[in-house]
Amino acid sequence: MLSDNFVSRLRNRWAPRTQREAERVTFSNTQSSDEIELASRQTAQEISRLFPQLQDKKALNLGCGYGRVDFYLAPEVGHLYLVDISKEMLKLAKARLANFANVSYVHNDGAALSDIPSASIDLVYSMFVLQHNAKEAAFRYLLEFNRILVPGGALLLQFPYCESTWYREDFLYNAVHQEDRSNPARVRGYSLAETRWYLEKAGFSGISVEQDAEERIFSKNELLALAKKSSEVSCAALKERTMARRISQLKGEWR
Ligand SMILES: C[S@@+](CC[C@H](N)C(=O)[O-])C[C@H]1O[C@@H](n2cnc3c(N)ncnc32)[C@H](O)[C@@H]1O
Repeated sequence: MLSDNFVSRLRNRWAPRTQREAERVTFSNTQSSDEIELASRQTAQEISRLFPQLQDKKALNLGCGYGRVDFYLAPEVGHLYLVDISKEMLKLAKARLANFANVSYVHNDGAALSDIPSASIDLVYSMFVLQHNAKEAAFRYLLEFNRILVPGGALLLQFPYCESTWYREDFLYNAVHQEDRSNPARVRGYSLAETRWYLEKAGFSGISVEQDAEERIFSKNELLALAKKSSEVSCAALKERTMARRISQLKGEWR
């Protein structure tokens, strides 16, 4: 569980009043609203292409923001759950998707998906969200995805590619301008290998992690991760296993 102070700092970071403000906090660059809409429509089309036959399925977007992509995906999906830590973002999403009856909105605590029953969702997707969280918190979300997905359920995630020039520069900038690491939402870069490892540890298989070099969904600065839930991995089970490993490590039984 995250501390109240930490959650309110996170929430303050994501509190736009208008869609334009939401676009600005989502994309720090200078794209116009039209360009963002075009890219969002293309992202939704690519998700539908990757996961056909969503019509009778349930999908969930963690960190939906103002419903940028969901607006275009909602007509293709049986039921859509839009989850976000920010009430303001959810309010904008509700307004943007007001014409869709197949959408539920979930205001969560920034750490878990407690309102979503286990094994109830067919597809989880999340983009430009996990990157703003500590890696441990992002991993715990992977465990939550594992819990809520049906067996064989699918996952589509974006991670910032730490070896791209963009995110290397971003890292340097943060390192020297935020020496005290005061921005809790600063972006964390991921390598190909660690992304795969986190997904494996969280009970996923059929994993594909690739730099989105052809800009199919994101850009060449991003990793596109696709996986399927293959086994149940709970936080409680991992707690036990890692504690046993820690004890044997401290006893010097392995190096
Ligand atoms: C950069 S925006 C991306 C929004 C949307 N995914 C998109 O691509 O347009 C990040 C969103 O994630 C939400 N968010 C950040 N950390 C979160 C967390 N720990 N739990 C839930 N939502 C979070 C923010 O409130 C914000 O709406």
